[in-house]
Amino acid sequence: MKQNMTRRDWLNKSATVLGGSLLGSMAGISPLKAAPIPSSNAPVRMMFNENPYGPSQVARRAMRKAFSESNLYSMRGAKAEFKELMAKLNGVTPDHIAVGFGSGEILKKAALMNGIDKGELVSPVLTFETINRYAKTMKSNVKRIPMDGNIGIDLDRMADVVNRRTKMVYLCNPNNPTGALMNTDELESFCKTMSKKATIFVDEAYYEYVMDPNYRSMIDLVKQGRNVIVSRTASKVHGLAGLRVGFAITTPEIANRMESYLTDSLNIVGLRAAIASYQDEKFQVFSIQQNNKARKVVTDFLDEKGMRYLDSQTNFIFIKTEIEITDFQPAMEKHGVIVGRPFPPYTDWCRLSMAKPGIMERFNHGLDQVLS
Ligand SMILES: Cc1ncc(COP(=O)(O)O)c(C=O)c1O
Repeated sequence: MKQNMTRRDWLNKSATVLGGSLLGSMAGISPLKAAPIPSSNAPVRMMFNENPYGPSQVARRAMRKAFSESNLYSMRGAKAEFKELMAKLNGVTPDHIAVGFGSGEILKKAALMNGIDKGELVSPVLTFETINRYAKTMKSNVKRIPMDGNIGIDLDRMADVVNRRTKMVYLCNPNNPTGALMNTDELESFCKTMSKKATIFVDEAYYEYVMDPNYRSMIDLVKQGRNVIVSRTASKVHGLAGLRVGFAITTPEIANRMESYLTDSLNIVGLRAAIASYQDEKFQVFSIQQNNKARKVVTDFLDEKGMRYLDSQTNFIFIKTEIEITDFQPAMEKHGVIVGRPFPPYTDWCRLSMAKPGIMERFNHGLDQVLS
């Protein structure tokens, strides 16, 4: 990767370049014209924010090669290799990296740390739940802060409740299930101030999908030695969710502590696939481009219908259907689409994960029928 370009610059640039070759062969899909509805009756998964294309061919080759290593306890070497690669790609040294069985494990280890320290956790009402649930398992008090009027994360209110009992603050950027970004400058300033009082956990599971040029990862704060944990995953853009590889970028002290809690359940096939996939830039660009196309198929349709949805920087969209999700889910399933679960208190909203662009027509068609 070019030294003077950020990774995002590179991906955006490459996405444009590749548009003519790799993606050119994918027929352009006009969202509003009735594209043919896929004929298979099997319902399409649009509920777990999975990558419909992964793993890449490069990752698959690495996995096949790793089969022959599977009788060996060789994951320690692969883990060190993975750490070195993540360190290099993110401009830190390997001692800043803690590897997890998915970033879900990193979230649980953070909750474990917080629990051992007898700390309170502060997190928004509407966000990814793993850390909150595990904090409760650890018998920690979890303070949930309501969203602002635009269903954004209310950093001011979060700052107000941080006190000496708070040992951790969880922020997901872009957030799940909203897909929305926080203002980068505001987030950075929050992290700088609050990390003097508590560990700030910034979950960047959807980092690669973000197209907003103003977006910045909070890794720079880690590089400044601040009390910040950033998590990333191979489950999304890389399409390796079933193989469970994720990691934290944090201070060597926290990384070391997290590593000491890791249950060591990593596996060689997953690690080898991830090592290969993170170097397979073409596939990342392809995944991002296809995701953008899929999102546009849906948002053009929603715009035409005059329906509200949040600006998504991820592989899912949060849509106000005005139908209770417990009714909407089964209704959509009849049209061959499985959508996301309820996200209280926003129960007349639906989180829709992106499938392949052509398949998203099935959602549009089903929505049209359900609304009529
Ligand atoms: C925001 C967020 N963080 C973390 C995860 C966990 O991902 P994994 O454990 O597969 O890395 C997810 C999964 O959907 C997520 O949406």
